Amino acid sequence: MSTSPRRVEHLQTDLGSVPIYTTAVIEQPWSSYSATDHAVWALLFRRQRELLLGRADAEFLRTQDAMGMGADHIPKFDEINQMLRARTGWELIGVEGLLPELTFFEHLAQRRFPVTWWIRKPEQLDYLAEPDLFHDLFGHVPLLMNPVFADYLQAYGQGGVRAHGIGPEALAQLTRLYWYTVEFGLINTAEGLRIYGAGILSSKGESIHCLESAAPNRIGFELERVMRTRYRIDTFQKTYFVIDAYEQLMDATRPDFAPIYARLAGQPTLPAGAVLEGDTVFNRGNGEGWLKEGDT
Ligand code: PHE
Ligand code: CO
Repeated sequence: MSTSPRRVEHLQTDLGSVPIYTTAVIEQPWSSYSATDHAVWALLFRRQRELLLGRADAEFLRTQDAMGMGADHIPKFDEINQMLRARTGWELIGVEGLLPELTFFEHLAQRRFPVTWWIRKPEQLDYLAEPDLFHDLFGHVPLLMNPVFADYLQAYGQGGVRAHGIGPEALAQLTRLYWYTVEFGLINTAEGLRIYGAGILSSKGESIHCLESAAPNRIGFELERVMRTRYRIDTFQKTYFVIDAYEQLMDATRPDFAPIYARLAGQPTLPAGAVLEGDTVFNRGNGEGWLKEGDT
């Protein structure tokens, strides 16, 4: 799309070139999506929906239908917003791409969820390094209709603003929590383990891998354990953390984190694939295909 605002600019400094992210809120340029853009949405939508039946949390699928997301066209943020505002008071805002951390937290704290306005190209169906409209809208937005999850995400934003003021270590611990819940979380339901993390929901390979592969660990969610665990950004996760219910996220994160940050400051971080003595283990990963280096 040639009309796109610049996602990133580079500023030349004494220390080299640093990226500047645009923080602008952008109106979704819906009428300028091409036929190819809509076709990419349709293909990904159909493919994921088929894969996610019996793999995603049933509430995710139900809510996605209720919101009127379908294969036929890229949804309009305005239409989604009418429903979201009425149900949980959230709204989507269009953005160019990843935001600076503090800006992102501030949006969440105000119940605004940033959604990338552009969609990947046909040659990027299976992987791209940054979030696009399909990941953000298909993966993240349906659970904003769930009142408990909606509150969790707002509280996370408020916690993020605080962590940002505390320092980089606190921020890293909070980011791990987001990664292992909002992006890569599993939930234990009466029917078995199901996916609720958007990073999995929008990925063909990982939506099968996370549940069916013997390689990764599947471990019960425990707040401080998660906050200490490093992760992979370039491959499938080595460990998935399993919650019992969305209420568990709220309950675990309600306390003031300041004493937790203070306590964790003295402890080493954990490798992404570690299994600890106190863990509730659903699956102990056999580690097949794991790369040695590169946990973030
Ligand atoms: N309770 C946390 C704090 O005091 C905030 C938080 C809520 C963090 C929800 C993550 C998720 O900082
Ligand atoms: Co995401």
